Amino acid sequence: MAEFLLSVPALERNARILRETADAAGAKVLIALKAFATTSALHYISAYADGACASGLYEAQLAAGHLGKHIAVYSPAYSQADLIELLAFAHHIDFNSLSQWERYRALCTQHPRARNGELQFGLRINPCHSTGHTPLYDPCAPGSRLGVPISELTDCAPQRLMGISGLHLHTLCEQYTPPLISTVAALEGQAAPLLASSAIRYLNLGGGHWITKPDYDRAALVELILRLRQQYGVQVYLEPGEAWCIHTGVLRSQVLDIFEAAGHRHAILDVSVSAHMPDVLEMPYRPSVFCTVPTASDASRQQPAVCLPGEFYHASGAAGELPHTYRLGAPTCLAGDVLGDFSFPRALNIGDTIILDDMAHYTIVKTTHFNGVPHPDIALLLPDNSIRTVRRFSFRDFAGRLG
Ligand SMILES: Cc1ncc(COP(=O)(O)O)c(C=O)c1O
Repeated sequence: MAEFLLSVPALERNARILRETADAAGAKVLIALKAFATTSALHYISAYADGACASGLYEAQLAAGHLGKHIAVYSPAYSQADLIELLAFAHHIDFNSLSQWERYRALCTQHPRARNGELQFGLRINPCHSTGHTPLYDPCAPGSRLGVPISELTDCAPQRLMGISGLHLHTLCEQYTPPLISTVAALEGQAAPLLASSAIRYLNLGGGHWITKPDYDRAALVELILRLRQQYGVQVYLEPGEAWCIHTGVLRSQVLDIFEAAGHRHAILDVSVSAHMPDVLEMPYRPSVFCTVPTASDASRQQPAVCLPGEFYHASGAAGELPHTYRLGAPTCLAGDVLGDFSFPRALNIGDTIILDDMAHYTIVKTTHFNGVPHPDIALLLPDNSIRTVRRFSFRDFAGRLG
């Protein structure tokens, strides 16, 4: 049975780094639930976070139930019904457009929680400064709907911003500090007077910061935040998702069949790329793959980033690099539902375990029941190396969600 296996010690390691960095900078660090919302695992890291960042009502409700603390919500658009519910318990509600803000301003600012200071409102800015390489993940791409373009904000009449006390930007994706520094420079280049105005009390620098990567320059991040706090008198928020979970989880799958067709050796797994790892197709990217097959060659011995107990795992090379190449594919009808061609130190067998690395963030939250392929279990690897299955899916889950 396939299984998403999440390592609690690895999650705690990332959480400690994020807490220490935020403390050094005097910043608040939130967990972006869009990346990871497995509540049984959040339980182990919530103490390290200042709260959560939610993409709408459901994630905000999850945050209220499982994390408490500060709840920051940003959505490209709110329905009035959702907004009314959010006003009752969120702490920051960030709007994507002046149109939505002006439509809801009275409803927001007259709310008792806004009047007593428990609730503040912000606007997402698009600094129009692209630093990424993948248009699908670039909120600053030309024509983007995400955030008010910075020049429109700086040109607008001050009364349009009445009631706004926060600025929010999210422009990065899996990035180090230089793109952040250049983005902040772009923001300051056009909006320094707005940042410095006494109305603006918080600056949310969004997610996409690879803070828990070993080579991330955390000192540079701390220095930048300390300066922003000092210069503009703002409380700085970070809301990473991936940084909490990078290198914390794997997807364990099994080989269901092996055969030759069209000049390729195919190995069919019991998981689907489309249904269980959609970012592999969307980004696209090539995951690291390991197998449990022992060989005489120590050279190929490697662990996935999450240290799994008891077995040795062997990294596969690119096609043709190691003696046995397979096209790893899914048991679905979608022709392109393949991980790619990977090579292994020895021939695979039906029933072998294949480990797909780094499948915690943006993977578990995005899964579907496409083709009715059984959904992998979700399990926690605990500090004593025991495994606790926290969710097992059945036919009822497949049929139940389709109406
Ligand atoms: C507004 C916002 N905040 C935070 C995040 C989290 O980003 P990441 O998981 O890359 O850190 C995202 C991701 O898309 C986002 O859109």
